[in-house]
Amino acid sequence: MAYNLLKGKRGIISGALDENSIAWHVAEKAHAEGATFTLTNAPIAMRMGKINDLAKACNAEIIPADATSVEELENLFSKSTEILGGKIDFVLHSIGMSPNIRKGKSYGELNYDWYQKSIDISALSFHKMMHVAEKQDALNEWASIVGLSYIAAQRTYPFYTDMADAKAVLESIARGYGYRLGKAKNVRVNTISQSPTKTTAGSGIDGFQSFYDFADKQSPLGNAPAGACADYCISLFSDLTRMVTMQNLYHDGGYSSTGISEEVIEMFNK
Ligand SMILES: NC(=O)c1ccc[n+]([C@@H]2O[C@H](COP(=O)([O-])OP(=O)(O)OC[C@H]3O[C@@H](n4cnc5c(N)ncnc54)[C@H](O)[C@@H]3O)[C@@H](O)[C@H]2O)c1
Repeated sequence: MAYNLLKGKRGIISGALDENSIAWHVAEKAHAEGATFTLTNAPIAMRMGKINDLAKACNAEIIPADATSVEELENLFSKSTEILGGKIDFVLHSIGMSPNIRKGKSYGELNYDWYQKSIDISALSFHKMMHVAEKQDALNEWASIVGLSYIAAQRTYPFYTDMADAKAVLESIARGYGYRLGKAKNVRVNTISQSPTKTTAGSGIDGFQSFYDFADKQSPLGNAPAGACADYCISLFSDLTRMVTMQNLYHDGGYSSTGISEEVIEMFNK
């Protein structure tokens, strides 16, 4: 059900690779809520993914941009304001990738060149997006910027290796720019800390199915699906959450506040 929550708003949505992507769900819901937006992803994802289908369904233009390149982000923001006919009201950063996770490196064996790539792609790109948006004065007053995070920023999950560090940086950037853009233009910046979700990025993590099942049993509401995460993003883009900023917001069915659930105890009793 749609509520016209984003009627008249203009946005930029990154990270939609296929229909499992969290960003894919956000784009579908933003479209249903009356927003107009551009879609962006790394040039390589254009070839691998199905973003053209999404663009057609949402009547959106695609602007390829490697989110680690300030130059490409400058093009993304200037083209977006041109195509959409005005300044931007919401931005979704839904970007994450760790070459170390892909190659199965443990935390003690990280390749440092890849480590820097993980941080650049998954965290600094968030900073670069806001840097470009500010320099171009591309954001409207009360715009809303959301990045996607994971609880490994606060607690150790051994298999999450350098992505844990990247998420901690991402959340810190949300506070840093949340303060700065809040003062400058009443812009809010938040991260959503999402449950394990079956997407390309999520499933690449070693032992994903086991910790997906564990989190599901540990959370009183069960794991939050991608569609529900998209609903939460829409609420943060809307005018109903104008005073929420610089927060890391758990969207995890209660996982982060649960010590141990009866279901998990039951598993040890067997
Ligand atoms: N899936 C999970 O379990 C989970 C849980 C919590 C948070 N998250 C976060 O949600 C976000 C979206 O991931 P997802 O789960 O939807 O997976 P996904 O694989 O569908 O999305 C990740 C996206 O990042 C894009 N990307 C990678 N490198 C890029 C670059 N250099 N420039 C621009 N884009 C680039 C990919 O093309 C892809 O579209 C990520 O930040 C991820 O860490 C995922």
